[in-house]
Amino acid sequence: MGIDSASLAVVGGSGFDDYPELNCLDSFELDTPFGRAAPITLGELGGKALLFMPRHGPEHKVPPHLINYRANIWALREQGAGRVLAVNAVGGIRADFGPGRLVIPDQLIDYTYGRDHTFFTGAGAGVAHVEFDQPYDEAWRNTLLAIARRNGWDVGEGGVLACTQGPRLETAAEIRRLKNDGCDLVGMTGMPEAVLARELGLAYASLAVVVNWAGGLSAQPITLETVFQQLRTSIIDVKRFIALLLASL
Ligand code: HPA
Repeated sequence: MGIDSASLAVVGGSGFDDYPELNCLDSFELDTPFGRAAPITLGELGGKALLFMPRHGPEHKVPPHLINYRANIWALREQGAGRVLAVNAVGGIRADFGPGRLVIPDQLIDYTYGRDHTFFTGAGAGVAHVEFDQPYDEAWRNTLLAIARRNGWDVGEGGVLACTQGPRLETAAEIRRLKNDGCDLVGMTGMPEAVLARELGLAYASLAVVVNWAGGLSAQPITLETVFQQLRTSIIDVKRFIALLLASL
């Protein structure tokens, strides 16, 4: 199994809490200096190795604002992850980012609060100010986009992901504000995951899966039922994309 692919980690979000297609080679429940991480499966798919972690825990029990992002990213690094593909269910704000669209954002704005958002907490842990003007790893994003293009996939190439605190969805006025701020997508799990990965030197990119129009942008109310219906369809696409990715590593 290729070393390259073994260093690939997929972080699954809502609707992607397990990965039955993976042949499980090993699994880990790691205690880190920051507490227990979500479980990790080392799996095999098409002859390639892959680490898989459902960020909300195996049965989607942990809401976005209570995820132990530090433990999760630490544990992935401990297991040898070099590149992380983070799958994020999101609401669409930009007109061409409607339900069913897959997007690889290139920017984000963090609206979260009260989350443990750094490994550099001072004293023994030190102080550092990581460079973050490009929050996603450009080379890794370009690899993903090249694979999408080569295979004729219509993946959104860039966009600004707003990360809100949740767990509630946003008001129509909040979405208008996010739009004015330049946001194209809105989700609850993009941060601090991305910056923690940067702090540990992991190449990190997001595959955003649009599962609803953001609050106030559609005549239909957002219901859990329609969101999960869209997720079920979209996760099939996400898994097809991961299979293409593994085949090309
Ligand atoms: N807002 C925030 N997070 C989300 C949404 C949304 O509309 N849809 C899926 N995750």
